[in-house]
Amino acid sequence: MLENGRLLWGMCCSLLWLSPPVVFSVADPGDLDVLMQFRDGLENPDLLKWPETGDDPCGPPSWSHVYGDDEFRVTQIQAQGLGLKGTLPQNLSKLSMLNNIGLQRNQLSGKLPSFRGLSSLQYAYLDYNSFDSIPSDFFDGLDDLEVLALDHNNFNATNGWPFSKTLQNSAQLTNFSFMSCNLKGSLPDFLGSMPSLTNMKLSGNSLSGEISRTFNGSSLQML
Ligand SMILES: *[C@@H]1O[C@H](CO)[C@@H](O)[C@H](O)[C@H]1NC(C)=O
Ligand SMILES: *[C@@H]1O[C@H](CO)[C@@H](O)[C@H](O)[C@H]1NC(C)=O
Ligand SMILES: *[C@@H]1O[C@H](CO)[C@@H](O)[C@H](O)[C@H]1NC(C)=O
Ligand SMILES: *[C@@H]1O[C@H](CO)[C@@H](O)[C@H](O)[C@H]1NC(C)=O
Repeated sequence: MLENGRLLWGMCCSLLWLSPPVVFSVADPGDLDVLMQFRDGLENPDLLKWPETGDDPCGPPSWSHVYGDDEFRVTQIQAQGLGLKGTLPQNLSKLSMLNNIGLQRNQLSGKLPSFRGLSSLQYAYLDYNSFDSIPSDFFDGLDDLEVLALDHNNFNATNGWPFSKTLQNSAQLTNFSFMSCNLKGSLPDFLGSMPSLTNMKLSGNSLSGEISRTFNGSSLQML
């Protein structure tokens, strides 16, 4: 999947690059704008090794950590464990074709932007960062979501934050991991009746109330 995307991205870009008249800046301008905001929000953007002057993520040279589709839309950002410091752009969800984002194990801080409406997003790893808040509409419209990791972020430390009910619309969700991230309150009943959900991790929070009867007979393998 990742390799195919990469290959296509490279192929399309090379074809355009070779055919006269030369067309620069073929990446979707809106996506490019969000990537530039992402870079500008970092204290150490050099770690991405994106070219200083290159104005096109699909090159040449193609930017590392970013992958796109054959319509030059960004589909993946893979920048885990690079030691990135800084904040994320609040309009990250304008990358509307994003299907896989890996930003875990960095030192990203400030507000986590909403992922609202990222209907192609399947995998999102945001764990082990230093975000201090999560917006209440973060989970809205994540129709294709399969895996989400938010562990070890100090979200909404003062009041904690409640489990979002809109997550029940993510019908293909198989794994979520929200350990030690200030979740508070009770677990919603729908979790027990989500057919695809097999792994959930919730330790290190202040969850209360009873485990609902609907969990009986569900396919959950881990709590
Ligand atoms: C994202 O937000 C920044 C400022 O907050 C703005 O300058 C930029 O134009 C926005 N980009 C898109 C694609 O909406
Ligand atoms: C977390 O805190 C922010 C800022 O105070 C607030 O806007 C947001 O709704 C809170 N998140 C949740 C999930 O309640
Ligand atoms: C889902 O969780 C299980 C158990 O922790 C793990 O083995 C598996 O790799 C996870 N899948 C993904 C795609 O992260
Ligand atoms: C849970 O399911 C088992 C077998 O399916 C049943 O025997 C038991 O009574 C159920 N418990 C509750 C609390 O519904």
